[in-house]
Amino acid sequence: MARLGLAVCAAVCFHLCILISSSSSIPAETGSHAVRRTAYHFQPAKNWQNDPNGPMYHNGMYHLFYQYNPRSALWDTGNLSWGHSVSGDLVNWAALPTALDPTSPFDANGCWSGSATILPGGLPAILYTGIDSRKQQVQNVAFPKNPSDPLLREWEKPARHNPVIALPADVPGDRFRDPSTAWLGGDGLWRTAVSAEVDGVASTLVYRSSDFLRWERSAAPLHASRAAGMVECPDLFPVAEHGRAGLDTSANGAGVRHVLKLSVMDTLQDYYMVGWYNDTADAFSPAEPERGDDCRSWRRLDYGHVYASKSFFDARKNRRVLWAWANESDSQADDVARGWSGVQTFPRELWLDEDGKQLLQWPVEEIETLRRKRAGLRRGGTRMLDAGALQEIVGVASSQADVEVLFKIPSLEEAERLDDDPNRLLDPQKLCGEKGATVRGGVGPFGLLVLASGDLHEHTAVFFRVFRHHDKFKLLMCTDLTKSSTRAGVYKPTYGGFIDMDIEEHKTISLRTLIDHSVVESFGGGGRACMTARVYPEHAAAARSSHMYVFNNGSDAVRVSKLEAWELATATVNGVGGGGHGLAAAVAPARHSDA
Ligand code: FRU
Repeated sequence: MARLGLAVCAAVCFHLCILISSSSSIPAETGSHAVRRTAYHFQPAKNWQNDPNGPMYHNGMYHLFYQYNPRSALWDTGNLSWGHSVSGDLVNWAALPTALDPTSPFDANGCWSGSATILPGGLPAILYTGIDSRKQQVQNVAFPKNPSDPLLREWEKPARHNPVIALPADVPGDRFRDPSTAWLGGDGLWRTAVSAEVDGVASTLVYRSSDFLRWERSAAPLHASRAAGMVECPDLFPVAEHGRAGLDTSANGAGVRHVLKLSVMDTLQDYYMVGWYNDTADAFSPAEPERGDDCRSWRRLDYGHVYASKSFFDARKNRRVLWAWANESDSQADDVARGWSGVQTFPRELWLDEDGKQLLQWPVEEIETLRRKRAGLRRGGTRMLDAGALQEIVGVASSQADVEVLFKIPSLEEAERLDDDPNRLLDPQKLCGEKGATVRGGVGPFGLLVLASGDLHEHTAVFFRVFRHHDKFKLLMCTDLTKSSTRAGVYKPTYGGFIDMDIEEHKTISLRTLIDHSVVESFGGGGRACMTARVYPEHAAAARSSHMYVFNNGSDAVRVSKLEAWELATATVNGVGGGGHGLAAAVAPARHSDA
């Protein structure tokens, strides 16, 4: 096992206890492009998708709209439509006809991103950006053609009202877009946030309306920053100061904080701030103003490869749920060869940490309905990972799996020292790049190797490393893609982020990783840091050829005090997989959902 540069595992690799609950439904895999279609992440049957649009829970059904090109696997503004799917459980999805197509003068060159809002009385309304016949960005409204259709299949774009928000004189025609879910202020007026560049400053404007048709701009922007040329897809939503319950988008007042999420076009990354929203001035004050105007110091929603996220309040389960677009990391020629491009992250529940400053994110519990075979430690058992340990997790097909590991750190004595360069803390991705999974350390690197070929030439490493920084400790999380595929022409960085938790006090760090063929979506420290990666392992063209391991390449031992790996069944996603169930199966409520 000189492979991977890990030292030989002294003890013979142990076999973890396996419980078999039922047979798997992983379909036969044919060819390397077929293998990369995901089994339980949302994607249309074919073609291009990008941003999640207008997610909502309405009349017992989840709806997800998405930026969709019905004609090809590439982005092409002229054809951009709103794809539309429905689900009873956020796991299985049925595809419906496109909800919005670029057919009117106010959206003739594309129906771009936007949101859905449920109006009093239950009527949903869509606000979206149209690229009009002059190629200018304007905001439009759409309503269901037949509000009593349980699937809301057809949408009407009222020509006598659209565009409901014209391009303002101080905003360039290509810099005005992505209206957010609307919320009600104390004055009974609706508000929506719209991204715009105003005088060269990336701004988030607020518009107010009494009837959802006539909108007026609030005097000051909700947020403005020179940190970026343009921000996109703003999301402003309330979170409870304590506890996990989600709040309706209009909630405000005692016990409520707000989150402002912005997608920064220059970096293609999503950032958020926690703070307070004042609906009299439509002003947002961040809880951490010291993070300032340099987006490198802003909190990241995901330290990997996701963008243009959007959340909604799920009134069925009283939680806030988030989607985000995970673009491909290979070439356009690969998109065309596959016939599709882009997936959504698995829906995540999100809530505020007790520290009042950061979000916690976790896959929605419905993922458990896909769990089949399980591998794990014996009840109450633990495993020591000595320096150089590499131990295989056997018994589950690891190309579609849900793995949770708890690492206990007996001592921080050996933690490496982090140098004093102030940029160090601003660029965790660089640090992860320098100190990848194969670079030996003191406390860490330890973590998971997933989607690994039998000879380990291909693998993706998700791991932690603890540093001593002055008199404190810093916990780094990385996803190292440098060996994820032997194929050339694929983006294979090492993603990184610091986890905001006191590792000295906790001495324990959890890692949950969802593996789905070309997706490795990880949640570190109970969801304090998320990291989504797209990977294209060549070996995975052969069915059941992937392996997974826990490893420790630090000089100090770490203990695995919990390990649970589940093989996941294939969901029915837009007519693909899951045994080919149709609409009825996809919209049936989850087996144990409303209980
Ligand atoms: C973000 C974005 C949005 C825009 C949409 C167009 O990815 O650029 O700003 O509305 O995609 O597809």
